Amino acid sequence: MSAGKKVALISGANKGIGLETARQLGKQGITILLGARDLAKGQAAVEELKKDGVDARAVKLDVVNPADIKAAAQLVEKEFGKLDILVNNAGVMFEPIGGNTTTTVSEEQLRQTFETNFFASVSVTNALLPLLKKSDAARIVNVSSILGSLGLHAQEGSPIYEAKAFAYDASKAALNSYTIHLAHALKDTKIKVNSAHPGWVKTDMGTDAAPMEIVDGAKTEVQLATLGPDGPTGGYFHLGETISW
Ligand SMILES: NC(=O)c1ccc[n+]([C@@H]2O[C@H](COP(=O)([O-])OP(=O)(O)OC[C@H]3O[C@@H](n4cnc5c(N)ncnc54)[C@H](OP(=O)(O)O)[C@@H]3O)[C@@H](O)[C@H]2O)c1
Repeated sequence: MSAGKKVALISGANKGIGLETARQLGKQGITILLGARDLAKGQAAVEELKKDGVDARAVKLDVVNPADIKAAAQLVEKEFGKLDILVNNAGVMFEPIGGNTTTTVSEEQLRQTFETNFFASVSVTNALLPLLKKSDAARIVNVSSILGSLGLHAQEGSPIYEAKAFAYDASKAALNSYTIHLAHALKDTKIKVNSAHPGWVKTDMGTDAAPMEIVDGAKTEVQLATLGPDGPTGGYFHLGETISW
């Protein structure tokens, strides 16, 4: 891995939108640290990326495991001394898509969803922030969902009005709040922080019913990870379009 190249860490990158984000960023010449909670799956994904000429290595990162987070930060510090891009992509959804789970989702599932989708993103970011501050212009992408939009959920007739997966939606709304607060905390730095809605994408989470292919589903993450100096911070986007909080 050569000096001077940008370095990106993507969580949950062994499959789905995270893996495709790794591929598209890697094809731009960015060194990829491919986060995976199962290192063997991460290594298999790295072998796949290498066929596309991507400079990648797998990092064991179960985002709800503090020891993994600490070790990943130490690895980045030791090997690169900085981090240019952090994509908080790892996510879970335990509820069915469609319908309203507000009174049926278990408290355990509510907590587990928040652990991965919200608390872990804060923990991973906090651990890596000192290294992001060493980059010339770091980018943090919190992979949210349009289902995290409080405004659209409250608006009768909106595209998501009938899709109320309570644990998932609330966890992504909390993640969006983190985006706004972190962007404000970092407003006097060159670091930009944004929330991404990938679209409804054909992955294990999105299911085959989704209209978007994975190659397009990664585009919003890639755009926000590679924003120029005039790009936005503290925003919520899908393919360059602003989403209502
Ligand atoms: N697909 C959609 O339509 C859609 C729409 C809006 C937003 N999103 C968001 O996009 C992101 C990626 O979703 P996807 O559709 O690509 O889903 P996916 O195919 O199910 O992939 C999810 C990834 O997250 C990883 N993960 C889950 N828990 C983890 C943990 N504790 N530590 C580390 N990795 C963990 C999974 O690892 P394992 O392989 O080990 O399970 C997997 O790599 C998620 O944040 C999701 O909420 C997806």
